[in-house]
Order: sequence, then C-alpha cells, then structure tokens
Amino acid sequence: MAILKLENVSLSLNNKPILDSISVDFWEGYIHAIVGPNGAGKSTLSYVIMGLSNYRTISGTLYFKNKPINELSVYQRARLGISLAWQEPARFEGLTVYQYLKASKKDNGLSIEEAMDVIGLPAQEYLPRACDKTLSGGERKRIELASLLVMQPEVVLLDEPDSGIDVEALERIFDAMAILKQRGSTIITITHSMAVLQKAEHAFLMCHGNIIDKGGIDKISGYFENKCIPCDHKNIPISGETR
Ligand SMILES: Nc1ncnc2c1ncn2[C@@H]1O[C@H](COP(=O)(O)OP(=O)(O)O)[C@@H](O)[C@H]1O
Ligand SMILES: [Mg+2]
Repeated sequence: MAILKLENVSLSLNNKPILDSISVDFWEGYIHAIVGPNGAGKSTLSYVIMGLSNYRTISGTLYFKNKPINELSVYQRARLGISLAWQEPARFEGLTVYQYLKASKKDNGLSIEEAMDVIGLPAQEYLPRACDKTLSGGERKRIELASLLVMQPEVVLLDEPDSGIDVEALERIFDAMAILKQRGSTIITITHSMAVLQKAEHAFLMCHGNIIDKGGIDKISGYFENKCIPCDHKNIPISGETR
C-alpha cells in the first residue's frame, strides 16, 4: 500500500515552475531514495510533502493513507506522523540537546539514551549541551536523527542525510535508518551518495521538477555510472553533472 501518494503535484515559486506534475506512490515500510542533479527539485518536493509555508499552494493532490492532506498545516502533518530532517540541520537556540529530544519524544520511540547510543554521541557529554551553532553541522544532523528515533514517525523524509557526515558517522546514520524502518517507519531519503542509495529498496530519479524514472537500486544507480540523465526536458544538464 502507498502510505504517501502524490497525484499531478505542481508548484511554482516566484512564477518559476519548480515541480511539474509529479505523480508518485511511496509504499509503506520501504526505504525509498530520490536522486537527481542539483536543482532538480528534490528538497522542494520534501518541503511540499511536509507542507512548509510557501510550499502549500500546489496544484494536484497529496494523500497520506488515502486521505488528501493538501489543506493540513505543517503541524497537522507532523501530528499525523510526517517528519523532515533538513539538508541544513535546524538549530534550536536556547534549548539543550536533552530539551530538544524530550520535546520530540513519543511513546513508541526509543528512549533518549538509546537514541544517542545509536547515533554515537555520548549522552553524558552531549545531552547538557546547547543545541545551537556550538555543535558542528554533522553533530546537529546526528542529533536530528536522534529526534526521529525518539519520535518514530510514520514517514521520515531525510534530505541528504550524509552531507557533512564523516565515514564513521555515516554508519551510525545507516543504523538509525535501519532501526526506523524496523520499527515501522517509511523512509524517503534524498541523496547524492551511492552509499546511501545502496541502503534503499526502491529509487526515483528526479530531473527538472519531474520524476523521470523509478525502480530498483541497480537500475537507478546506473545513472550515476553513466553520469548522464536521460531527459528530454528543455534544460538538459551538462553531461557528467550529478549534483
Ligand atoms: N523560493 C524560490 N524561488 C524561486 N526558485 C526557487 C526557490 N526555491 C528553490 N528554487 C529553485 O527550485 C529549483 C529546485 O531547488 P531544490 O528543490 O533545492 O533542488 P535540489 O534539492 O534538487 O537540489 C532550483 O532551480 C532552485 O533554484
Ligand atoms: Mg536539495
């Protein structure tokens, strides 16, 4: 079953068409990857699904569990169980890491200590720290994943979970994804990384505001190898460009 479904979803920003009639089903319980060149509209698609303000005036329909959610605010969608980890991780000035995670905590999520353990940041050291720019971008991304582990949302959108993350920490991100899936989340990860793509079970190729292909990882990873996006759209990306 598709837990999340987009039907002919289009969006323009400042009169510029960004998403162009996207229809896609995200099957429940799978790890999906969305790949495609820089500027394809991947982050925008995640903001539209999340319902961030400025990204609400779409045409087409968004369904969560077969019910239209176009009219729902970001908070209402979060309450339904849709959650987004940002490409640039958020800062929560004035909150400690503990307070931030406590605010995210839901009954069926991991405990705060368990979540810190999964992402590999020692709880004793990190929980009292301010959740602000005194943490590195990579640390904030890991703490944002910890917030998802304590929350256990139904749909997890991860925007480039590997950016700013070193090789060792990347394994922790993969552990977090595996645990979220095991405990029932559907994961949609946007990525440029072959390593992240390999963790997915199904992938979509996005180009110029469209999803132009979908299928198994082997099929979609072929585009990385060829470094060529087969797209008959107006602005064919420069051959070799994958970001
Ligand atoms: N507020 C905006 N106004 C106009 N264009 C925008 C705005 N936000 C993003 N874009 C454009 O939308 C396109 C898709 O951006 P984005 O979703 O960030 O791509 P990706 O995440 O695939 O790299 C880009 O061409 C970008 O310049
Ligand atoms: Mg992006």
